[in-house]
Amino acid sequence: MKPMRADVYCAIDTTDIARAEALAAQLSGHVGGLKIGFEFFYAHYLNGYRALADKGLPIFLDLKLHDIPNTVAQAVRALLPLEPRLLNVHAAGGAAMMQAAANAAAEAGDKGLRAPTMLAVTVLTSLSEGDLQAIGVQGTPRDQVLRLAALARDNGMDGVVCSAHEIDALRAEMGPDFKLIVPGIRPAGSASHDQKRVMTPAAAQQAGADILVIGRAITEATNAGDAARAIMADLNNSASSSQNGDAS
Ligand code: C5P
Repeated sequence: MKPMRADVYCAIDTTDIARAEALAAQLSGHVGGLKIGFEFFYAHYLNGYRALADKGLPIFLDLKLHDIPNTVAQAVRALLPLEPRLLNVHAAGGAAMMQAAANAAAEAGDKGLRAPTMLAVTVLTSLSEGDLQAIGVQGTPRDQVLRLAALARDNGMDGVVCSAHEIDALRAEMGPDFKLIVPGIRPAGSASHDQKRVMTPAAAQQAGADILVIGRAITEATNAGDAARAIMADLNNSASSSQNGDAS
């Protein structure tokens, strides 16, 4: 059985550190964590990371590492003292790279640190079938996602970042314990921005997502804390209706 309720990580996509800190403070206690990606991390590096982490929420450090195995392993070791709750690499870096990353993450315990949950990025959702063919990958993006997810699982990764529309297939193939982290989530009626294929939080939870990554639907709301609370309430309601066997 999948978790009854998916967790929510809010994507803090800004280079404005004051805004990021204000969001982290407003969201503390209302979401499960924050996602820090290239935009914020490359603008503010470790001090920026610590400023947000100090507000108390777990961090998904979305740095999509992709290099030779030794370099990625050393990058993971360098990041361990930050104790991100989740950290990711590109599955396209291959089996040895993912294994090296997983082994490096597992060293956290020896250093008295909490090991991150290790995730792989399979196929960027911005890539179409034609884009994949242009880089020499035959077959559909879905085939490639499933292939890379299996490779990730077999090489020490705890889960993958995937599109909401891949949850069903991945859950069926990868079993209940493989973590599915899902961006491209929009509450009913909210703007889809540049996301082409969106899903509501409740539908993604129902499909079997473990963590929903939600950015602008929270950060661009008039009150980010209220928006987050509304999403969590919706997820709680949907989880209890499905537990009671209601159709939803
Ligand atoms: O604002 P929005 O909810 O669209 O933010 C989604 C977040 O998830 C962004 O940080 C984006 O970079 C990230 N993401 C995504 N699609 C992927 C992988 C990551 O939207 N396939």
